[in-house]
Order: sequence, then structure tokens, then C-alpha cells
Amino acid sequence: MRVISGIAEMTSFSQQKTAAGLVIGFVPTMGYLHPGHVSLVKQAAKECGAVVVSIFVNPTQFGPGEDLAAYPRNLKRDLEILDALKVDVVFTPEAKAMYPEGYGTFVNLETPLTGKLCGEFRPGHFKGVATVVAKLFNIVLPQKAYFGQKDAQQCIVIKKMAAELNFPVNIVIMPTLREKDGLAMSSRNTYLSPEERKAAPEIYQSLLLAKKMIEAGELRTEKITSAVRKKLAGLQDAEIQYVAAVNSSSLEAPVLLSGEILLAVAVKLGKTRLIDNILLHIT
Ligand code: PAJ
Repeated sequence: MRVISGIAEMTSFSQQKTAAGLVIGFVPTMGYLHPGHVSLVKQAAKECGAVVVSIFVNPTQFGPGEDLAAYPRNLKRDLEILDALKVDVVFTPEAKAMYPEGYGTFVNLETPLTGKLCGEFRPGHFKGVATVVAKLFNIVLPQKAYFGQKDAQQCIVIKKMAAELNFPVNIVIMPTLREKDGLAMSSRNTYLSPEERKAAPEIYQSLLLAKKMIEAGELRTEKITSAVRKKLAGLQDAEIQYVAAVNSSSLEAPVLLSGEILLAVAVKLGKTRLIDNILLHIT
């Protein structure tokens, strides 16, 4: 496994592999890897001749007052995990190489999609995500890139960005990996106190409650979201940021649920912001 931090070196690796006829699979991450990340890497290895994983805590997607400085990092452990998975390259660029002094070009999606759900609480977040992913696509030159459904809105934004900017990259979305008790795996789970960790599975339980209600025939969006809110209200020291039952492409809330519905929540447990979602197909 090669660890490359130089941008030109990364691109030249990819150009050589592509010239040799290999399909490059790319998994962008911010590191502090967990089995959710690993599932994306394994899928890339299954489908591609060369696998590149990036580890870069992207400063432009963090707002002021967010956890950029505190974001968990453990490069040594991450490299051990990726080495065992026989990844070809780990790309670890420096922030000052990605965003040199005077940097000024950003990818901003002019669509209501980026202002909804997480976008409402993290202004500028998706601009930072779209910018870094576009830059990484240009550097790594993958044919396939792997993302997790855990970050549902990020998947929608990246698919739209890749399509509209004509990136010749096939975006593959993989299911959310969960702990045994249902909590969606996340690098940020490490912030949780033992009490918060114990309470956190309630988030997924609230989504399952909504699913059950829908399966029992309740299609009024308002009834579903208020039942989820009520369940989450039982969490101590929690701030419910949003509870959404929305069309999975437009992210608009219908009065009555039908078609592909994204049930999504964001909750701040103490200082830790957690998100989760499930997709439902209502016929
Ligand atoms: P990060 O949070 O490190 O996540 C990297 C990838 O792993 C994302 O595609 C994310 O959706 C996926 N992932 C996270 N938790 C998962 C889980 N429990 N199950 C399955 N997949 C999971 O998302 C980012 O980094 C950044 O925004 C990035 C795309 C790298 C741009 O900076």
C-alpha cells in the first residue's frame, strides 16, 4: 500500500493505472475509520482494479464553532486498517496544498436541496463538501466513487454535482452500517459520554417507530413526524434539529406520504450532533 500526500503524485498514479486498463475505485473519507467506511472500501475492492482511499479532514465543510479542531484523528490506526484491506493508495493531502493561500474557487449548488435538512443547520456545509469532492475527483480520476447512505443528503448533493459538472464518475451508494443496538456508525460517536452512548440508539428506534406506523397505514406526514419528535423528546439533554419525512429526491415534505420517502433526523446529544435516516418505498 502506498501513502501519497502529493497531489501531482496522486494524479500520476491514477493516470498510469487507467492507462494499464484498471478501473479506479475511490472512497473519500475524513479518517477515524470504522466498519461503515470499511464496507465502502470492500465494495470498491470487489468492483475495481485499483482502490484509492482519501483521508482528509476538509476544513471548508466545517462551520465556525463546529468540531474541525476536535474532529477525531488516528492516522496510524487508519493506515493499519487500510493496509489489511489491501488498498492500493491512501491519499492524505495537506490542507495547505488543497487550499493554498488565496484559494478562491468553490462549487456551490444553486438548488433548494442544499438549504434543507442538514443545510439549514450547517450553512455552507454542502458547498465545502461539493468543493472538496470535485477537487478529489479531479486529482484521483476515479471511474467509481463510493459513498454511504448514512449521509443521505450528501449522496444527493454529490450525485447532482457529478452529473451537472459532467464528471465521468459512477457514484455508488452503500447502506448504513450500524452497531448491534442500531446506532448508525459514525466517527463522531466517539464524542459520546457513556450515558449519551446508552441513549443514542433511541434515534434509530424513532425511525423504526415511524416505519411501523407507515406500514400500519398512517400516511399523514404530520402524524409521523410528530410521533418521532415525541419519542426523541424523551432523550435527556438533547436538541432535536430536524425530523423529516420527505420525498427522497426533492427533499420536500408531502402532506401524504407516497413513493420513495426519506425519513431523516438530526439530534444534538449534549455537544454531539448525530444524524440518521432510513429510506422507505410506499406503494
Ligand atoms: P466521513 O464522515 O469520513 O465519511 C466517509 C464516507 O463513509 C461517507 O460516504 C459516509 O457516508 C460513509 N459512512 C459514514 N458512516 C457510515 C455508516 N455507518 N455506514 C456506511 N457508510 C458510512 O462524509 C465524509 O467523510 C465527508 O463529507 C467527505 C465525503 C469525505 C468529504 O469531505
